[in-house]
Amino acid sequence: MNKTVFLQTFGCQMNERDSEGVKGLLLDRGYAFTPEIQDAEVILFNTCSVRQHAEDRVFGRSGILNKIKDRRPQTVIGVLGCMAQEHGSQFFRRMPSLDLVCGPGNIADIPEILDRVFKDRVKVTATDKINELEYTMDQVSYRSHRVRASVNIMSGCDHKCTYCIVPMTRGIERSRPSDDLVREIRSLAERGFKDILLLGQNVNCYGKKLEEGIDFAALLEKLDRESGAERIRFTTSHPKDANIKLFEAMRDLPSVCEHLHLPVQSGSTRMLKRMKREHTREWYLDRIAEYKKTVPNGSLSTDLITGFSGETDEDFEATKRLLIEAEFDSAYMFKYSVRPGTPAEKLPDDVPESVKHSRLQELMELQRSISFAKNARLIGTEAEVLFEEGKSDTPGKSVGRTRTYKRVVVHAGRDMEGRTARVKIRQVLNETLLGDLVEGV
Ligand code: 5AD
Ligand code: SF4
Repeated sequence: MNKTVFLQTFGCQMNERDSEGVKGLLLDRGYAFTPEIQDAEVILFNTCSVRQHAEDRVFGRSGILNKIKDRRPQTVIGVLGCMAQEHGSQFFRRMPSLDLVCGPGNIADIPEILDRVFKDRVKVTATDKINELEYTMDQVSYRSHRVRASVNIMSGCDHKCTYCIVPMTRGIERSRPSDDLVREIRSLAERGFKDILLLGQNVNCYGKKLEEGIDFAALLEKLDRESGAERIRFTTSHPKDANIKLFEAMRDLPSVCEHLHLPVQSGSTRMLKRMKREHTREWYLDRIAEYKKTVPNGSLSTDLITGFSGETDEDFEATKRLLIEAEFDSAYMFKYSVRPGTPAEKLPDDVPESVKHSRLQELMELQRSISFAKNARLIGTEAEVLFEEGKSDTPGKSVGRTRTYKRVVVHAGRDMEGRTARVKIRQVLNETLLGDLVEGV
């Protein structure tokens, strides 16, 4: 067969993981992959709906896709992922060159869907498996990296944050049985993967609906004991469900890394209420105080939204103060955009674009200085670094991550891929630490 595929991924690590699965499935069927959209016989976008900007980038491809289709009408063009789930067959009206629309729950059926499109030349919409319990991607052995690998432990979300489209695109919360996870991670560890990232929209809710009576902290214990993984990390967590049991697991389990990503979204309780986050500013600050006390050298990152409906200067000041108080190692920040069908669609989008923008810039500037000051404190200390595959731009340099997920560059003079070594931190460059291998490793 040997048809060539161009696959581009937008959005979060779950989407990256889904794309990896799609690539594996299609490679097994004899497809080949190309980085050039112009050469491809199949063009797939795995899309994200979380913000308008992510959607605009996909809709922005319309022109080029129309041209490709004019020139080579046999080309099959598909949209996968969250935008596919959100827009369904409406997509064909917005982008007439499309042949297939496939939601995240149906993504493992992509080979069969392509067969149908090629054979019958029909347009296919596959969005019915949004709440499906079965995970089929774990059967796919292909992995795009050599040192780290992601594993979905749960998907969907039952929280009802008013700004968020994810419950509509990824469905209800459901977890995979822990024995399946042990099996998958053990096999990855045996294949040489060292860094396992557990994925879920809210990993702290892991196990809630499983009959085996397990929660996330207990899963971490089980994986630490039985999977053989060298490092285990996880993302993402909701503050409401993060508790001392989790922090103690992070402290006590040798394989579980000391990095917590705990999105706060706003530092103003009034805003958090409007967002239906189900926690206050104080509750969040108490949780992270508990985390820092339990895991003293742990790192902490967050997500923040500027310009949500009704956000005043006072609310924004509260977010700035929270940033200073929490001392995050890093933060991902976004301008609010209304998502169709979400509860917040009914609230006025009343913060002017220019104010959303300037608040975002201000927060980013503030966080840059906090991150820098925090990283500068590491100068002269030693850290355990796991080196990734040849990712440095400079020959002879190796790039790795600390257990706290800080990027470290060293001049090793030899291949460090997959090795763990002690590094003494010498210098800080923005988000990256420069260091030297400690003698004797
Ligand atoms: N507008 C802007 N940012 C959003 N996020 C989620 N929904 C929206 C939205 N409508 C952000 C949140 C979330 C991250 C993944 O994306 O900060 O944690
Ligand atoms: Fe985007 Fe959320 Fe879907 Fe991930 S789950 S691709 S962040 S909309």
